[in-house]
Amino acid sequence: MSTPHMFYRDMFTEHVRIVRGEGVYIYDEFGKKYLDASGGANAAIPIGHGVKPVIDAMIEQARKISFVPMHIFSNEPAEKLADEIAKITPEGLTTTWLVSSGSEATENAVKIARQYYYERGSTGKFKIITRWQSFFGNTLGALSVGGHTFRRSKFIPLLKDMPHIPPAYCYRCWFRKEYPDCDIDCATFLEKVVRQEGPECVAGFIAEPIVGATTGATTPPKEYYPIIREICDKYDLTFIADEVQCGIGRTGKWFAIEHWNVSPDIIATAKGLGGGYTPLGAVITRNSIVEQFMKSKSNIVGGHTSCANPLSSAVGLAILRYITENNLIEKCSEMGNYLKKRLTELQEDHPIIGDVRGMGLMIGIELVKDKKTKEPFQPESKVAATVTRECTKRGVIVYPGTGTADGILGDHILLTPPFIVTKEHLDELTSALDEATRAVEIQHHIG
Ligand SMILES: Cc1ncc(COP(=O)(O)O)c(C=O)c1O
Repeated sequence: MSTPHMFYRDMFTEHVRIVRGEGVYIYDEFGKKYLDASGGANAAIPIGHGVKPVIDAMIEQARKISFVPMHIFSNEPAEKLADEIAKITPEGLTTTWLVSSGSEATENAVKIARQYYYERGSTGKFKIITRWQSFFGNTLGALSVGGHTFRRSKFIPLLKDMPHIPPAYCYRCWFRKEYPDCDIDCATFLEKVVRQEGPECVAGFIAEPIVGATTGATTPPKEYYPIIREICDKYDLTFIADEVQCGIGRTGKWFAIEHWNVSPDIIATAKGLGGGYTPLGAVITRNSIVEQFMKSKSNIVGGHTSCANPLSSAVGLAILRYITENNLIEKCSEMGNYLKKRLTELQEDHPIIGDVRGMGLMIGIELVKDKKTKEPFQPESKVAATVTRECTKRGVIVYPGTGTADGILGDHILLTPPFIVTKEHLDELTSALDEATRAVEIQHHIG
């Protein structure tokens, strides 16, 4: 079935081909259907597969033109998309640089932050403080500011060393405290590191407002981002919110950071913006940063072949329109609450479901060997992979994660279904997870 001419993401598994998608389901070459509860490779499918208005927009634009030399010209779909994005972003962030992936978005966000200080004359400010157990993409720049131990480990000599602070991870607090009696040490720690590194050397702080692939939807308490914002303001740092996964409505607001009533300086987003129909990302920048570029008559030093591509932009516009016209963000909240309730019920029945967390349709479950002690499984147990395989057998796709607990140990499952899921779909998902989790418990003689 597979071809030896392709470098597969997993070279050791036989790949069944997927041949079509419709709504929340995808279908393989043998006609088997799968509920896409991971939304493609994680949160990339907000409105489902095969949506006609998006396909129509794509065809219409392809008939007109699908590539424009942007070093000389502009194009209408890209301009309209930037205008639409400006309507949904937090106040003061109305200028967008369009790219083609999440990694491009985060790397460009970091570059814009650095260049901003450079243009301002603060040329010493270059360090980006980040958090352990975070992920901003697999390119070298994104890995440098990332905190995913496994994804970084083989490339360490190629990465620029950036300061890392502990994650905001209440279930396994690095400070051995318990919310709300914790003084939000995970947030205030940023200030300690800024002072140690020297504020004159630090350009910014980057975080996923709700962490995706590395810890499975860990969500900081309400005080966390206001404290981060305050520290960034105090020391003149650019706060970059990576909304590649949690943005574009998935958590019940256009951007997840809005749940904390905080405005970042740069938002990097992707996945949901292209809806899985096209590679598309965006870097949305605070106006005062853009004004500095204008003042110093400097352009962004960068650019990619497919920046502001008209075909991708037309798709992005159709996706935003579909989300708005069908009130899908409200649906995310409603269905997310239902999914969380069902999973919390499941947690009561299963000794290995240690935690259920997240917001909207971005929900994680952490799998543990012992619920009381929170002891994680050893990596060789491959628990997250087994749950995923058992779910796939049952026609449900979920996204596994490892290294959850400390970068090495720990397992979780991340659920990011399309916004159009119904309660029946979520029951189907819960039932598959129930059986898949039971299979692991039997295998490990637990419960
Ligand atoms: C939070 C986050 N940022 C960045 C990326 C990188 O996006 P891409 O894979 O499109 O480069 C991802 C991908 O999973 C992500 O989850």
